[in-house]
Amino acid sequence: MKLVVLLLLLQVSGCADSRCFCQVTGDLDDCTCDVETIDGFNNNQLFPKLQTLLESDYFRFYKVNLNKACPFWSSSSHCGLKDCAVKPCSPNEVPEGIRSHNKYSAEEKEQPVKCELAENLGAVDVSLSKETREALLNWSKHDDEAERFCVVDDEESPDSQYVDLLLNPERFTGYRGPETWQIWNSIYEENCFKPYTIKRPVIPNLFHNRPESESNTFHSWLEGQCVEKRAFYRLISGLHSSINIHLSARYLLEDSWFQKKWGHNVSEFRQRFDSELTDGEGPKRLRNLYFLYLIELRALAKALPFFQQPSFRLYTGRPEEDREHKELLLHILQMARSFPLAFDETSLFAGDEKEAAKLKEDIRLAFLNISRIMDCVGCFKCRLWGKLQTQGLGTSLKILFSERQIEALPTSSIQRPSFQLSRQEVVSLLNAFGRVSTSIRELKNFRSLLAEE
Ligand SMILES: *[C@@H]1O[C@H](CO)[C@@H](O)[C@H](O)[C@H]1NC(C)=O
Ligand SMILES: *[C@@H]1O[C@H](CO)[C@@H](O)[C@H](O)[C@H]1NC(C)=O
Ligand SMILES: *[C@@H]1O[C@H](CO)[C@@H](O)[C@H](O)[C@H]1NC(C)=O
Repeated sequence: MKLVVLLLLLQVSGCADSRCFCQVTGDLDDCTCDVETIDGFNNNQLFPKLQTLLESDYFRFYKVNLNKACPFWSSSSHCGLKDCAVKPCSPNEVPEGIRSHNKYSAEEKEQPVKCELAENLGAVDVSLSKETREALLNWSKHDDEAERFCVVDDEESPDSQYVDLLLNPERFTGYRGPETWQIWNSIYEENCFKPYTIKRPVIPNLFHNRPESESNTFHSWLEGQCVEKRAFYRLISGLHSSINIHLSARYLLEDSWFQKKWGHNVSEFRQRFDSELTDGEGPKRLRNLYFLYLIELRALAKALPFFQQPSFRLYTGRPEEDREHKELLLHILQMARSFPLAFDETSLFAGDEKEAAKLKEDIRLAFLNISRIMDCVGCFKCRLWGKLQTQGLGTSLKILFSERQIEALPTSSIQRPSFQLSRQEVVSLLNAFGRVSTSIRELKNFRSLLAEE
């Protein structure tokens, strides 16, 4: 009974049949997709505005700890993990405020670690201008004064550092093969509620010779899951697709001594998404990308009351700009709110109270674990974007499951507000959505490139 009720929960509500992206009636995989509606909305309206917003100073600097050791296995990274990400940043380049409680000190400088060089594809450029460093100091002063309720481990760690996202675009880094496979595999195998006996379809079948029916077994297992766990799997798969689209769209096409050229690699794209080359899995992966898009879009729409509070500022210390950017942000959130296709996720986690709480906790823990797996990613640029995107998705889920608290915000001005987002959560939320939005747009480019072939 419970299952039947849950299956109805993700039903798309309030839209004309023909315009629906997904008519989810029990089977999430059987979406009849009106991709054009999402494409048109994203590519023509939302994407350009979001790009402008993400280039602003508030959103381009992301504070992250790239120096945590992998908690699950000893990483085989050629570069002994810890010191490499900070290497390009000499101690006096680090903002004073960060340095004061930091250990980028002489001892580390003296260790001759064979580090990833700044010019390596996977290295993170952590350089900041003097002006930026000063401004960031002012920001943390402002943020410290604001009330905070939950502190994300990464933000408070003395090892955390600001990274300029515009200097570190997500693109092909050459990081692939068994190590990436291990990362994704442990995410899917150990953190997606999946029993070991059910095999995930891995195509191309580099690692095992698997019978054809396994794909069927997997998808019928997925159908039998409750809607939340199925949704969880689809979000992770959507994230995986999004990352792969970026790597195919910013592929290193030419690498000679006088220039590097990045661009679309159609054959790379086809290997990951072509129905024939992936035994039918590719289109499912792309549908999961659209699913991820809709979930994050929904979270943005729900978060509007939080951002509308007069006390919320996109603080960079330049009031005029801060006001303009807040207006742009609110405009984008209004657009998200106006998008007609949406899930009724209020009913998620709303079943039997005890059972629902358990489920919600399971998902929260699995999510936490996935962000720890990101510390096992050997390529620092991949780790940066992996962390940012998992934090962004985590923030989306936090918003979706805090709907009541957010709606109550405007009236709770006397008491402590019951819902809060930190700067890092805000930055990751919008940047993660920016990635998915870019992927949707890149799909259009790939479609026309494929049509030319
Ligand atoms: C930092 O704040 C101080 C005082 O509010 C101001 O004078 C200074 O210009 C700010 N620095 C930057 C780089 O924004
Ligand atoms: C967390 O992930 C690791 C590595 O994949 C796995 O061994 C462990 O069982 C997971 N823990 C939880 C609580 O899911
Ligand atoms: C495109 O990617 C494939 C691997 O999928 C690779 O073999 C090929 O060399 C790439 N093409 C270019 C122009 O780099």
